[in-house]
Amino acid sequence: MQGPFKAVPLSDRVFWVGAVDWALRNFHGYATPGGTTYNAFLVRGEKKTVLIDTTKKAFLDELLSRIASVMDPGKIDIIVSNHAEMDHSGCLPEVAALVKPEKILASEPGVQALAGHFGPDLKVQAVKDGEALDLGGLTLRFTATRMLHWPESMVTWSPEERILFAQDIFGSHLATCERFDDQVDESLLDWEAAKYFANILMPYAVIVAKGVEKLKSLGVKWKILATDHGPLWRSRIEDILENYLLWSEQRPTKKAVVLYETMWGSTEKMARAVAAGLIEGGASPKVMPLSGSHRSDVATEVLQAGALLVGAPTINAGMYPSLADTLTYLQSLKPKNLVGAVFGSYGWGPVGVKQAQANLLVMKVETLAEPLAVKFVPTPEDLMKCKELGLKTAKVLAERV
Ligand code: FEO
Repeated sequence: MQGPFKAVPLSDRVFWVGAVDWALRNFHGYATPGGTTYNAFLVRGEKKTVLIDTTKKAFLDELLSRIASVMDPGKIDIIVSNHAEMDHSGCLPEVAALVKPEKILASEPGVQALAGHFGPDLKVQAVKDGEALDLGGLTLRFTATRMLHWPESMVTWSPEERILFAQDIFGSHLATCERFDDQVDESLLDWEAAKYFANILMPYAVIVAKGVEKLKSLGVKWKILATDHGPLWRSRIEDILENYLLWSEQRPTKKAVVLYETMWGSTEKMARAVAAGLIEGGASPKVMPLSGSHRSDVATEVLQAGALLVGAPTINAGMYPSLADTLTYLQSLKPKNLVGAVFGSYGWGPVGVKQAQANLLVMKVETLAEPLAVKFVPTPEDLMKCKELGLKTAKVLAERV
């Protein structure tokens, strides 16, 4: 199928044949203001041609058009599914029906996951950790990367090309016409890579560190880290590997995220006083009103923070729904090494602060003080107590970094 889209060569034997999703703004609850890409790759040996991953179902035409700019898609011999999530396998049944490959390969849990998504008619064979595939003058090797970020996740790599087809690892949700890290703004890419880590990989931080060490132990001086989302890494490979190890550790920093909701402005006044104390004490507050901060951006800031301070007013004998949303989300991402506290105003009962405090305890945030609750509107004395909370937090952070 000829079409408007062209493949991008990574070498004379490897081609990017993915799709650019300029319109995506929500990736299962993660805000993606810059869209994303679904990267897929064509690897051509002397004897066999392999397609690594596909795209989200809606982008089948773009995938086929890019493949057709290099070769007849019907001549693909093998399809490899590194990761069964639907943004990479969504059009696998359609591609398989068209191509009729001699085999589709995935990890053992990947075989089960693909059967769970597409039923038993899609025949998929399992490959083992360390298994290799000879394409003729070119080898593909399979390495299990369990829980990075699904149980079936694996990576595929070519020792001759020194390319790692890394599925979601090292990804960023960023739609660009450029394909490589050195072609896009460095600070934008670093933010999006950190955001991806925070929202997709943070719950598995310990496993991520082991996974990065496993990839390093393969002993390959990588030429390209070909992630499945956003730009491919070729110029700043050491940087992204180091950042992954750093983000996995979540070492405390002097940054304090001050997250709050407010009903009539009282909890906002308290948040500003807490931030004033943090600044005076030498910490760096990132004040995030939930009226203008998406949960996935909060998670990104928390990844690189040492403290989480939550302003939780009470509404209808409970916590504000937007705050409950963000705290539940953060809880599931399992951030580590945080200190924190809760503050907020109330009318008849300080329920919001109690519920927010319970969330912090589940997150294993080391709380520095009892919840600071203020009836109706904070007095100057109340605001000084908020400032003191900020000063105390700054002092603890200074001792921890
Ligand atoms: Fe890009 Fe886990 O899917």
